[in-house]
Amino acid sequence: MTQIDDVKSRVDIAELIGGYVQLQRSGSSFKANCPFHQERTPSFYVFPDRQSWRCFGACAEGGDALSFVMKADRVDFREALHRLGARVGVTIVNQQEAGGRSSQLFEINDVARRFFQQMLATPEAEFVRGYLHNRGLTDRSLQTFEFGYSPLRDNRLLAHLTGAGYAPDLITEAGLARETDDGRHYDLFRGRLMIPIRDWSARVAGFGSRAMDDGATAKYINTPRTPVFDKSRILFAMHLAKEPVRQQGAVIVEGYMDAVMAHQHGFDNVVASMGTALTEHQVALVRRLTRHVTMALDGDPAGRNATLRSLESSWGVFQQRNARGTQPAGMSVLQQPEALELRVAELPAGQDPDDFIRQSPEAWPAFVAGAASLFDYLLASLSARADMESADGRAWVAQTMLRFVAQIPDAIRRDTYIDDLAGRLSLNADRLRAAIPEIVRQSAAPRRGEQRVPAAADEAIPLSGRNEDATEEYALALLLQHWDGIGLAAAAEIAADWFRNAENREIYRCIMDAVATASDVDAPPDVLAPPELEPHLNRLKTRELRLSGSAKPELAWRQTRLKWERKHLDNNVLQLSALLQDTEGWDSPAAVRLTEAAARICEIDRELRPAAPRQSSGRGL
Ligand code: UTP
Ligand code: MN
Repeated sequence: MTQIDDVKSRVDIAELIGGYVQLQRSGSSFKANCPFHQERTPSFYVFPDRQSWRCFGACAEGGDALSFVMKADRVDFREALHRLGARVGVTIVNQQEAGGRSSQLFEINDVARRFFQQMLATPEAEFVRGYLHNRGLTDRSLQTFEFGYSPLRDNRLLAHLTGAGYAPDLITEAGLARETDDGRHYDLFRGRLMIPIRDWSARVAGFGSRAMDDGATAKYINTPRTPVFDKSRILFAMHLAKEPVRQQGAVIVEGYMDAVMAHQHGFDNVVASMGTALTEHQVALVRRLTRHVTMALDGDPAGRNATLRSLESSWGVFQQRNARGTQPAGMSVLQQPEALELRVAELPAGQDPDDFIRQSPEAWPAFVAGAASLFDYLLASLSARADMESADGRAWVAQTMLRFVAQIPDAIRRDTYIDDLAGRLSLNADRLRAAIPEIVRQSAAPRRGEQRVPAAADEAIPLSGRNEDATEEYALALLLQHWDGIGLAAAAEIAADWFRNAENREIYRCIMDAVATASDVDAPPDVLAPPELEPHLNRLKTRELRLSGSAKPELAWRQTRLKWERKHLDNNVLQLSALLQDTEGWDSPAAVRLTEAAARICEIDRELRPAAPRQSSGRGL
């Protein structure tokens, strides 16, 4: 039995939740006013026999003991597991971090940080100090951002760290050294300006480093990916910017030096994405503090196309995530997540924020305030590249913009964008609307309703009827093993709410995180799970799926998805009926939900039914 199972088997969910809200017995279950939204009549239920909970009101969400603690205490999976463990007397040992591997990496980074800082003060680094002062940086900025210097020769950092008792393997794992084929180690950073990168919790996770001669192969070299450093999941200067961001919204610049110069002039709500296009994970970090985010892009048309392409892919993930209503950590549970307001300001050609602020700091606030919405920005930058006098040119702009718009799942919002687009391009809105399905077809796997499932696909789904979580796990295994055939579109069709099992839900969240930070959304995501979930993740990755010859992953996926949603709805119907008989009238919100669920079940059954019925199969599970 895993630690997780052990903890879960010892928890009594009614007793657990009873500690948060007053439970009233109702048949074999309990009900209460939902702890996650305000209500006067109870729509929150606890089902002791299934060890699950569900809110049938505004939240429309449910899960197990772990997901309850995550939501109620607003903590992540690991913390929830620790809290539950403490409650039932199981000490969670972190297998992977036994010996504190991560904390050792943070520690060694901090020792290196101090070493680099000391080196910057030596005569050898006088030219570096000169360089920094020439760039207009004050001593105070050098202190605040802990600038350093890595000596050019003799692997001095390695000598320093091994002298302090750290093993070469650990130094290499921290990304500070490399190993040659014949097993010798050498410093990765040599003769460079060192910029420590601290994470959300202000731990030194890695370094950025700038070459000091213009002929160097790479201007910037960063710590490679390590267990504690992933550039796409960190925003540079965030540890200094939290409070200002909370108060003024976030400004995201591209470079280290841009952020440093901004802070030097008191613009301390500025953080840097470190050159990559903004990832969803980075947005999620900012989102803990604010919903006002402005990107200040360098005015460099050469790199602009790449930026546009990556905005296109991150836009999709944003939209889908907004639609799933993922609640960012740290928000009040009573607060519905509001839409993120993402704006873009572009500097004049050839300028970056560093140049701009050095020249005219007083103009910065107005520059930021003048940012356009992402939609307007994209439209303007595409229009600038097309011949807007010709219908062809405008159609090209429309086509490209529709690729973004098509990803908005909410039909009403999508329509608003289409009308807006049509108006501004003097094109017919209905024509644009009509083009959407084709665009979706081109850019995504087949969606619901477009393709009937052949009867044979039924054989593809080995479902063990008894295990409640079998469908969830089969679906996750399919996603993990057949990303090529199914991909992001499939992952986005899942609602986090369908997961009854918190481990599975957490794995799903990790998959979506990996997708959000991937440079290529079509490549199988590199999923990083918390150590406690690694065995589970590995089981899912290696589990045999027994897809028979005729049953392609897409078909298996489609059917699993439908069956899963149906199972979720069945559960709802069951519980809603109990609720209705119990207290609520047939004109209550619960009754409306029941009708909706029933209608969707009919729809699913229709879709699951074979195109040419040979037999009257196609019923649910
Ligand atoms: P820039 O090339 O705009 O550099 O890259 P910069 O910040 O203006 O640097 P200076 O002013 O020339 O010193 C922006 C950011 O992209 C990342 C770094 O985080 C950099 O700050 N980057 C850039 C890399 O990681 N590697 C590179 O080779 C180049
Ligand atoms: Mn610069």
